Amino acid sequence: MSVLVVGASGAVGGAVAEGLLEQQVEVRATSRSPEKLALPASVQTFAADLDDPTSFADALVGVDRVFLYADLSAPTPLVATLAAAHVRHIVVLSSSAVTQPAAAEDFNGARFLRVERAVKDSGLAYTFLRPGGFASNAARWSWSITRDGDVPLPYPEAVQAPIHEKDIADVAVIALTSDALIGQSPSLSGPERLTLRQQVETIGDVIGRTLSVTELTEAESAAMLSRHVPEVWVRQIIKDWRDAVGATPPLSDEYTRITGKPSRTFRRWVEDHKGLFQGEDSRRRR
Ligand SMILES: NC(=O)c1ccc[n+]([C@@H]2O[C@H](COP(=O)([O-])OP(=O)(O)OC[C@H]3O[C@@H](n4cnc5c(N)ncnc54)[C@H](OP(=O)(O)O)[C@@H]3O)[C@@H](O)[C@H]2O)c1
Repeated sequence: MSVLVVGASGAVGGAVAEGLLEQQVEVRATSRSPEKLALPASVQTFAADLDDPTSFADALVGVDRVFLYADLSAPTPLVATLAAAHVRHIVVLSSSAVTQPAAAEDFNGARFLRVERAVKDSGLAYTFLRPGGFASNAARWSWSITRDGDVPLPYPEAVQAPIHEKDIADVAVIALTSDALIGQSPSLSGPERLTLRQQVETIGDVIGRTLSVTELTEAESAAMLSRHVPEVWVRQIIKDWRDAVGATPPLSDEYTRITGKPSRTFRRWVEDHKGLFQGEDSRRRR
């Protein structure tokens, strides 16, 4: 059995490749820049771009199952390429955004729904992983924490249930090494609800530094975010924070049901990545 991990350079994709290798599974891996992949020599790596299905021809030889990021604008041609290569099971990193009311009208919900629909319509076996907000979103604060000991935010009381990328990867590995999750779409979350302010406090606690939060207006926050993030994402991130003030995001027990283990906490994520907030080179964070 051979598994192709698309996006093995990513936080989740990298952890999926690692988890599969621990299970002695034959792994093939892609990136748009495969030279940046740091994987054992046993892993065959390929250059492939989700927006160019033909670029997957070599990577797909002999592959049974594929782990797929949903970052593609036109999923149908890619899914047809996977089917033509006799892939039998696709595990998609989707999002809990698809479960929100009016997901189809939401920018984020709609793009994941498009991919899920294309995979379902293909008739191939599928598993859709639907995580909520990632703990790794806090990595965006590393620069201001390292420099100023401060996190500027428009909605510090926004509530999330941040999930560790390794929890998502653990479920992906089970999906990719058995038929247990075929046809399932587990919603995944972290084990606890935390405001953004509590997340900043947790980071301070782990690195042994008192951190502050500076409250920004939406306009100030948008100006800051747009230096690093495309406009459409700036609007989405701010909308998500605004909507999350006073919210009670669902806490899923799917991770424990599937793996038999407790979910990793946000504190655990910070401990695993604390170098990020202590001035280590962010490129070494994974
Ligand atoms: N952040 C959240 O709270 C959240 C919540 C739910 C779902 N998600 C989804 O989770 C994903 C992010 O996961 P992550 O943190 O693991 O991401 P990440 O570390 O930023 O890595 C993204 C991966 O996607 C690959 N990729 C992106 N566009 C590609 C393309 N056109 N062709 C081939 N590969 C491509 C990248 O590969 P190369 O650059 O090496 O080619 C990279 O390996 C996104 O799809 C996001 O929408 C995020």
